[in-house]
Amino acid sequence: MGELAAERHVKYILSVEKKKDSFESVVMEHLRLNGAYWGLTTLDILGKLDTVDSDEVISWVMQCQHESGGFAGNIGHDPHILYTLSAVQVLALFNKLNILDFDKVSNYITGLQNEDGSFSGDMWGEVDTRFSYIAICCLSILHRLDMINVEKAVNYIVSCKNLDGGFGCTPGGESHAGQIFCCVGALAITGSLHHIDKDRLGWWLCERQVKSGGLNGRPEKLPDVCYSWWVLSSLIIIDRVHWINKEKLIKYILDCQDLENGGISDRPDDAVDVYHTYFGIAGLSLLEYPELKAIDPAFALPVDIVNRIFFNR
Ligand code: FPP
Ligand code: ZN
Repeated sequence: MGELAAERHVKYILSVEKKKDSFESVVMEHLRLNGAYWGLTTLDILGKLDTVDSDEVISWVMQCQHESGGFAGNIGHDPHILYTLSAVQVLALFNKLNILDFDKVSNYITGLQNEDGSFSGDMWGEVDTRFSYIAICCLSILHRLDMINVEKAVNYIVSCKNLDGGFGCTPGGESHAGQIFCCVGALAITGSLHHIDKDRLGWWLCERQVKSGGLNGRPEKLPDVCYSWWVLSSLIIIDRVHWINKEKLIKYILDCQDLENGGISDRPDDAVDVYHTYFGIAGLSLLEYPELKAIDPAFALPVDIVNRIFFNR
């Protein structure tokens, strides 16, 4: 089996596509706040976060904040809950949460909860269990979970549960590993895992592993490195990760590396991107691959950062 080309991946992230020479310019321009979260978390898992100019990133993140308290993907864009979580996660990575006005950000998120307990992504109102997860994860990091109706939020997520044990984006929506991560993560953070039929869901999730060792997101779909994260984190949270073949999955992820220029792709021989590089390395971290920082499966942040947030360590 090949090995993780860690140094090449660090180089790749620092100079995505080699168009520019610094992490800051490239990520900020093309990938916005989500991209910053993927790239910086990958660097942190690899123990290389200090290669980035943190002052420059933090100043840019804060300029993405809107007067409503939410964050946009880039300066001058409209705020959305997706980018708000990324902003909070990036500040957490740099131990800079203290520069945030916690109440202002929390008020923005609280204002997105609907009467039925669900969350909209922004003022335009699209509803999705992704946004329930983001709201719960973000408020929990800010120690402000009590500002929303948690019981209703949990009930809404439970209403998106299907007979196969999985979860969809809205009630009746087809089970999909990405949505399952969101629902399982949100239920874990709120201490509501008793709503999950762990054996039934574990069965559906471990059936996502295909012959090559990779995982897909739904039955009959092709494997994709990002599902190493969505499926694996869910299996770990419900304590059924021993139901998949870890060695084969490690091999699949390593087979998706660009050994020459760094980066990881969705499938062997496809073009690499920062998103799949993050999910590949985060997946390897969940699989306890040597020399990687451990990542928390519910908060999607390194475990030492989560400990600092909740236990002040
Ligand atoms: C599939 O994406 C993934 C999802 C639907 C889940 C997305 C979850 C979030 C945005 C919450 C924040 C996540 C983290 C890790 C903090 P896709 O569009 O690639 O699906 P496809 O494979 O079906 O195209
Ligand atoms: Zn993918």
